[in-house]
Amino acid sequence: MNILLTGASGFIGRHLTRKLQSNGHTVIACSRKNGFDFTKMRSKEDWMPHLNHVDIIINCVGIIYETREQTFNALHYQTPSALFRAGADAKVKRIIQISALGADEHSSAPYHITKKAADDVLRSLPLNWFILRPSLVYGHGGKSTAFFKRLARFPVILLMEGGLQPVQPVHINDLTDCILRCLVSTDTNITIDVVGAHALFFKDWLQLIRTSENRPEAHIISIPFKFCLIIAWLLKPFIPLMQTENIRMLRRGNFSDVTPLAEFLGHLPVDITTGWSKL
Ligand SMILES: NC(=O)c1ccc[n+]([C@@H]2O[C@H](COP(=O)([O-])OP(=O)(O)OC[C@H]3O[C@@H](n4cnc5c(N)ncnc54)[C@H](OP(=O)(O)O)[C@@H]3O)[C@@H](O)[C@H]2O)c1
Repeated sequence: MNILLTGASGFIGRHLTRKLQSNGHTVIACSRKNGFDFTKMRSKEDWMPHLNHVDIIINCVGIIYETREQTFNALHYQTPSALFRAGADAKVKRIIQISALGADEHSSAPYHITKKAADDVLRSLPLNWFILRPSLVYGHGGKSTAFFKRLARFPVILLMEGGLQPVQPVHINDLTDCILRCLVSTDTNITIDVVGAHALFFKDWLQLIRTSENRPEAHIISIPFKFCLIIAWLLKPFIPLMQTENIRMLRRGNFSDVTPLAEFLGHLPVDITTGWSKL
């Protein structure tokens, strides 16, 4: 099938491109390098000329923090909505949207609110759609994977409220397998939370990373939420990932029921200990 893949140059996009191509699909890779800038393609008409002979659209564009040019509204909502509407007009066979766990009616973070707004546009269109909401995705080349590996190297780690936030990281292979399944599934128009086999506390994930690198357990120092916000605000110019909003999202936790994903895949996703040991 001919698959238009936005965000093809990103962490998920690169893994997905390899998997799609090795399964015999033709990938039309979109990123700013080859002229697809989401800040400049906000209308349906911008996308229509690119959809001739396209069977499937997969949207993998996203940002974790805003800049003056790169806003959540443009990248998560306006342009994906235009792309989805163009896809409906061009009668593509199905559209797969990579949203995010937490993009639901309870979301309060702009990151999630704008993702949900685009998800809702897709849900309203007369075509076959899939909305995948991954939790933290880990694997080779992932920015957060690299960040958590660096963090886990410190023998003493300061963590918000002792790192007692539940997280349920999912291996990149389980996410790309799930996307592959969306291409052929007869069960369509569904939203799936793409999570790992089980949840664990953030502090235990960091300890697990240390164990996998043959390091002894780190000493965890618990710091209050408000103090964490101040640290994040101070570090933001040096580590853009340290946005106060991201700290709030981590505090909310990042987990869900794995059963719908396991049923869709036909097996449980890999557990974090096994998945991480293969990195
Ligand atoms: N990784 C995770 O843990 C995770 C978890 C949940 C959800 N997600 C979602 O999954 C999607 C992909 O995540 P990722 O980890 O692969 O992110 P990533 O590595 O940061 O890749 C982001 C992609 O977005 C593209 N992009 C950024 N700004 C753009 C613009 N103005 N115009 C066109 N393309 C633009 C980038 O292409 P350029 O080469 O043009 O920069 C890149 O291909 C995102 O929507 C993210 O929210 C990721």
